Amino acid sequence: MATGISTGPDGTALGPTGRPVKEFPVPEFLDGHGPARIISLCNQKGGVGKTTTTISLGAALADYGRKVLCVDFDPQGALSAGLGVRTHDVTTVYDLLLSSRTDPHTAIQPTNVPGLDVIPANIDLSAAEVHLVNEVAREQILAGVLRKLSGEYDVILIDCQPSLGLLTVNALTASHGVLIPLESEFFALRGVALLIETIDKVRDRLNPAIELDGILTTMFDSRTLHAREVLERVVEAFGDTVLDTVIGRTVKFPDASVAGTPITEFAPDHPAAKAYRQLARELIARGAVA
Ligand SMILES: Nc1ncnc2c1ncn2[C@@H]1O[C@H](COP(=O)(O)OP(=O)(O)O)[C@@H](O)[C@H]1O
Ligand SMILES: [Mg+2]
Repeated sequence: MATGISTGPDGTALGPTGRPVKEFPVPEFLDGHGPARIISLCNQKGGVGKTTTTISLGAALADYGRKVLCVDFDPQGALSAGLGVRTHDVTTVYDLLLSSRTDPHTAIQPTNVPGLDVIPANIDLSAAEVHLVNEVAREQILAGVLRKLSGEYDVILIDCQPSLGLLTVNALTASHGVLIPLESEFFALRGVALLIETIDKVRDRLNPAIELDGILTTMFDSRTLHAREVLERVVEAFGDTVLDTVIGRTVKFPDASVAGTPITEFAPDHPAAKAYRQLARELIARGAVA
């Protein structure tokens, strides 16, 4: 997972995005916590690294002293499993959506990473769209829930399900920013236009302040020409929105998920763990996270 894969005309090292390699400073610790910036990790395609990024970025930000809440917003519950928390006989995000009287604090579980908490989900959440469809202000329900927690965290990361349905619209309506993980594979680009159209509609109708914080290339294999060409096309299409940090393809992620531990804890010196710490520093440097 090399970062400098070529050199420019004047001999400067170029990263995989074709831009000069940047160093992002280690951030200062914060004096206090909150209010949180809320970021949705969103892509209607499955298997692109949304959940892996939510877990690994959340853990990396917590390592830098940020107070982080990860919200599992996918009925598959992969985020909850990857962070090793219980999903049954506990309060889940589904309960919070259905009853505004449930205190959202009752759903929060700590993880084995200090400073990283999670609100779990399980398969019950798949019924939420049907239940919410007749609610008043049905797109704003998650926003109302997270408002009650915002003061205690620096960042809230929402792991969206692979769809652009009502749950994802709730996540976008609750968010200040969106991070789009994009697998470096040719057809991955196709869905992004539709996703950006959805974000634009949410901005027009529900959440004027929402920003696209970045597009994150995941599962990048620098040895293949194909991956490099795809990344070149992504940078051509989206410019500076494409983050400098690129996540390489590695089998360490499935191993870390089985262990129920973020990669930054499971294999802290692995290049993938370093890449997610760089992502945390890049987002702080860009002002997407305090
Ligand atoms: N950089 C990577 N390299 C290799 N495998 C990865 C990488 N990121 C994620 N994976 C694996 O790919 C699968 C899908 O990732 P996941 O984060 O669950 O995607 P999504 O949430 O978008 O569906 C998981 O098995 C995960 O362990
Ligand atoms: Mg997922």
